Amino acid sequence: MIFYFTATGNSLMAAKALLEEGERLVDMAAARKAGAYNYDLAEGERVGFVFPVYCYTMGDVPVDFVRNLTLNRHPSYTFTVVTCGGGIGGTAAFLGKELRKKGITLSYATDLLMPDNAVFYYDTKSDAHHADRLGKATVRLEEIKSDLSEHKEKRAKGLSSGWLRPFYHALCGTKPFYVTDKCVGCGLCARNCPDGAIEMNEGKPRWIKKRCEKCGACINRCPVRAIEHGKGTVKRGRYVNPILKGGDNE
Ligand SMILES: Cc1cc2nc3c(=O)[nH]c(=O)nc-3n(C[C@H](O)[C@H](O)[C@H](O)COP(=O)(O)O)c2cc1C
Ligand code: SF4
Ligand code: SF4
Repeated sequence: MIFYFTATGNSLMAAKALLEEGERLVDMAAARKAGAYNYDLAEGERVGFVFPVYCYTMGDVPVDFVRNLTLNRHPSYTFTVVTCGGGIGGTAAFLGKELRKKGITLSYATDLLMPDNAVFYYDTKSDAHHADRLGKATVRLEEIKSDLSEHKEKRAKGLSSGWLRPFYHALCGTKPFYVTDKCVGCGLCARNCPDGAIEMNEGKPRWIKKRCEKCGACINRCPVRAIEHGKGTVKRGRYVNPILKGGDNE
């Protein structure tokens, strides 16, 4: 079973590429919203966690999910692929620590370099740069898939980055978000928000939580680029992995 979380599609692309025939793919954000934390594994079944790094640590969606997760038996093998735009620091080590509290050993951990979706902080790169990164990620995913099929061991690098979570939370305020006149009221941003932080109000999105996951789904996936975050994003591009094509979550 692979548990994944995605905002702009990179981690979904990775999770789908690693999926074995008949293996279940579970969206951690949807499961967290539904309070669905109990899963039955078949004997010999493996478990994987695929999600993006935020501020060199784990965001609330995967943290809450993993902390609440209950499995009927120990997985035969546990792995993680953390997608990133630059580096993951001790994020996989943090996941390993959280899993150890449940008696689960993280056997294989790797990062996966993909296009960066952090438009709150940086401009997006060119289409050619994204295509190059996605091409290299596709090759790397084949290698990872082969490692996983052989149940290879790969230790998580570095020290757990759980201590960075307060810094991540400090960046998660929703106050800087606003919507411009370009908004056509389609409601996609509210439907795709993994954290229930957006509500449609008189045909326009309204941020109803003080703090959110800060995943970038709303701002990157609005089909008419109507969402901004402070002044910084006005001149910046947006990023969506082709697997999502800017539409609703599958
Ligand atoms: C708030 C925020 C913080 C991020 N922090 C990091 C980071 O610390 N290191 C990094 O390499 N990428 C960082 N990223 C980039 C994403 O982890 C990366 O683009 C990821 O592949 C997006 O996955 P998704 O398309 O599945 O949502 C950050 C993105 C956001 C929105
Ligand atoms: S996705 Fe964009 S256009 Fe659609 S409701 Fe949200 S802000 Fe408006
Ligand atoms: S409000 Fe936007 S950035 Fe925040 S969790 Fe929802 S979709 Fe992600």
